[in-house]
Parts: sequence; C-alpha cells; structure tokens
Amino acid sequence: MGIPQPSFYIFKCEQSSPPGMPKPSCVTAQTQDLFQYLAQSLMKEGIMGTVQPIRTSCMNRCNAGPIILVEPGHTMYVRLTKEKIDRIITEHIIGGNVVEEYVIDSELWDAPITPADMKKQMGR
Ligand code: FES
Repeated sequence: MGIPQPSFYIFKCEQSSPPGMPKPSCVTAQTQDLFQYLAQSLMKEGIMGTVQPIRTSCMNRCNAGPIILVEPGHTMYVRLTKEKIDRIITEHIIGGNVVEEYVIDSELWDAPITPADMKKQMGR
C-alpha cells in the first residue's frame, strides 16, 4: 500500500499589505496567528497529514479576509477567527458538513469558468 494522499488541503492566505496600502490584507496584528492556530488545532485533533494546511499569497478576495480555501470542494471561508476555525474543523473537516454561515457570499465566489470556455471568450 502506498503513502496515502491528504483528504483535505486548507489554503490560508498569508498576504500582509505594507502599512498605508489601500488594499486590505489577510494578515494583520490581530490575525497573524491564525495559521499557527489552524496547524496546532489539526495536530491536537490528530489529523495533521491527512489534512494539509498550506500558506498561500493573495487569492483576490481580500475584502472578506482573513480567508481560507478548503479543497476538495472549492469552499472558501471568510472573516476567519479562531472560533470559526474550531467549528470548520469539527463540522466540515471531521464531520463532513460545510459550515454554510461562514462561507463566502456567492456574489464574490460564483461558479468557475473552465479554461476551455475562457479561451473561447478570449477568442483564442
Ligand atoms: S490578502 Fe488574502 S485574499 Fe487578498
């Protein structure tokens, strides 16, 4: 039997805008420990490895930050807090049910466009 692949990847935006930038960011003085909290919570649950947390740069939904993206499923959670992380791990990652009340508004996260359709739209 081979090495099992992870069941989930959790991408955490770790973008921090320089002071004075008009664009918001997902890492501020108040939220800078969320990735560490996420990783520690997965370790405490004993599910690190089958759930792989990954630091990313901006995923272009800064106004709703801090955000995480759970794959598979393209589930984006917004305005993240430690309390939300606890529920996401318990209810979604372990329990299998998306925590709908924390999911990004569909106005900001509509269905994807396939690469083939995007090429057609661009006339290529
Ligand atoms: S800074 Fe996190 S989504 Fe843009």
